[in-house]
Amino acid sequence: MAIITSKDLDLFYGEKQALNQINIEFYEKEITALIGPSGCGKSTFLRTLNRMNDLIPGVTINGEVQFNGQDIYGSSMDVVMLRKQMGMVFQQPNPFPFSIYDNVTYGLRLQQQTYTKEELDQIVEESLKAAAVWDDVKDKLNKSALSLSGGQQQRVCIARVLAVKPDVILLDEPTSALDPVSSGKIEEMLYDLKEDYTMIMVTHNMPQASRISDRTAFFLNGDLIEYAPTKEIFLNPKKIETENYITGKFG
Ligand SMILES: Nc1ncnc2c1ncn2[C@@H]1O[C@H](COP(=O)(O)OP(=O)(O)O)[C@@H](O)[C@H]1O
Ligand SMILES: [Mg+2]
Repeated sequence: MAIITSKDLDLFYGEKQALNQINIEFYEKEITALIGPSGCGKSTFLRTLNRMNDLIPGVTINGEVQFNGQDIYGSSMDVVMLRKQMGMVFQQPNPFPFSIYDNVTYGLRLQQQTYTKEELDQIVEESLKAAAVWDDVKDKLNKSALSLSGGQQQRVCIARVLAVKPDVILLDEPTSALDPVSSGKIEEMLYDLKEDYTMIMVTHNMPQASRISDRTAFFLNGDLIEYAPTKEIFLNPKKIETENYITGKFG
């Protein structure tokens, strides 16, 4: 079932159009990879899904994004709620300069609901386990998250997102700043999370996209060129631009 649908979505930075008439549907409990050369609009598009572009001055958006059937740009949309339901993970791990424990509970403390210490302990453990970093950090939850390696920091950031129980996780090149071993661990972890979450992931890593994603969308110059099951995109692309990009013949 489609959980997110964008219809005729245009985005302008000032006068400059960065997205042209994007029509795409994302499906529940799948990983969708967004690929394409630098500057083609992948991050911009990802940010339209949880309205992170609202924070950038001079942005104009036309068209529609529906999330669970609701127009997210409609006046009745609660943007704080939207961002809770669509967690985001960035290229550079961005833990806050406090303890691992407080990083994971950060989003919970912004909510109205209050939790007991036992409940928080449990959420911290579950989230760090789901993010495959529990064994690394269980004996030092009160240490600064900044003392961890890059790969561990990124997994703690993913745990921080999981703690608020989002429906969707948006990932913008989540492993590209990491070494191959850390990157591989995160990739396996994301694959396992697919049971419970819908994920949309920008990646420059073609083997990674082909290993873990169900569908792949290829962007070029602000256009969505081709969108299909990942196997089709990599084995039998319909558009010459897609073929040139995935075979590295590009530009
Ligand atoms: N905050 C911004 N202000 C103005 N232009 C931007 C901004 N962010 C991105 N752009 C432009 O929009 C286009 C798409 O950028 P981006 O979405 O970052 O591409 P990608 O993630 O595919 O590398 C690029 O031409 C980029 O220069
Ligand atoms: Mg980008």
